Amino acid sequence: MRRLTIPAIRQRKKDGVTAEPVVMLTAYTARQAQLLDAHCDLLLVGDSLGQVIYGLPSSLPVTLDMMVAHGAAVVRGSWHSAVIVDLPFGTYEASPQQAFETAARVLRETGCAGVKLEGGAAMAETVAFLSQRGIPVMGHIGLTPQAVNQLGGYGARGRSEAEAEKILGDARALDKAGAFGIVIEGVVEPLAVAITQAVACPTIGIGGSAQCDGQVLVTEDMLGMFERVPRFVKRYADVAGLISEAAAHYAAEVRDRSFPGIEQTYQPKA
Ligand code: KIV
Ligand code: NA
Repeated sequence: MRRLTIPAIRQRKKDGVTAEPVVMLTAYTARQAQLLDAHCDLLLVGDSLGQVIYGLPSSLPVTLDMMVAHGAAVVRGSWHSAVIVDLPFGTYEASPQQAFETAARVLRETGCAGVKLEGGAAMAETVAFLSQRGIPVMGHIGLTPQAVNQLGGYGARGRSEAEAEKILGDARALDKAGAFGIVIEGVVEPLAVAITQAVACPTIGIGGSAQCDGQVLVTEDMLGMFERVPRFVKRYADVAGLISEAAAHYAAEVRDRSFPGIEQTYQPKA
């Protein structure tokens, strides 16, 4: 299976219509990528790895070195999906030049196909700068977790008409700047629909709408690894339950000396 390209994914949406929705999940490790790859179009090495893998309180402390290490692992573990890596907080916002340096390092050192960055109209110049220099960029608007200090929390966006107008303007600016796709996170559904109808590039919803051109979830969330998840998460498995059960079973067998059994031990040749 040849790896999907960013232009092929961008072309899924033709004249405002997407016949086949874009399937995207996060991946942080090579093994996770191997398991998800055949089912997805895009694998996102999200900066959500800060909370999910490192137990950090937000995505703000995530470093570029972390993103490069996990990005390279996910590229090594996949052969079909296009891999996108998040630019972490503080590594791209200052200028288009800073963003280019950062994104170029990510592409060079991971082999990924493109990057994602948060922000709307304020990032349009940067999106154009990178897109015109060989770096495909995906935008991310609405609930942008790197801006949690400014937003005051992780609640849904676009509830007021003024805020909805601003977010729609953000989407239009990114689209015009050449973004190959836009993640719409945590917005009221009619706004996600309006954005999807207003922009030429595919929209990827997470807490958006089934009418978006694609969907993304944090894999650990949809696998049921966490007790507390946002409203927009649907759990497709109970992996936390499986892990706890397996660990409890193992612990009991170690304590009663029934593990290792004969099958797991080496015996001298008879
Ligand atoms: O970091 C992340 O996982 C993301 C997705 C939730 C879109 O940005
Ligand atoms: Na992210």
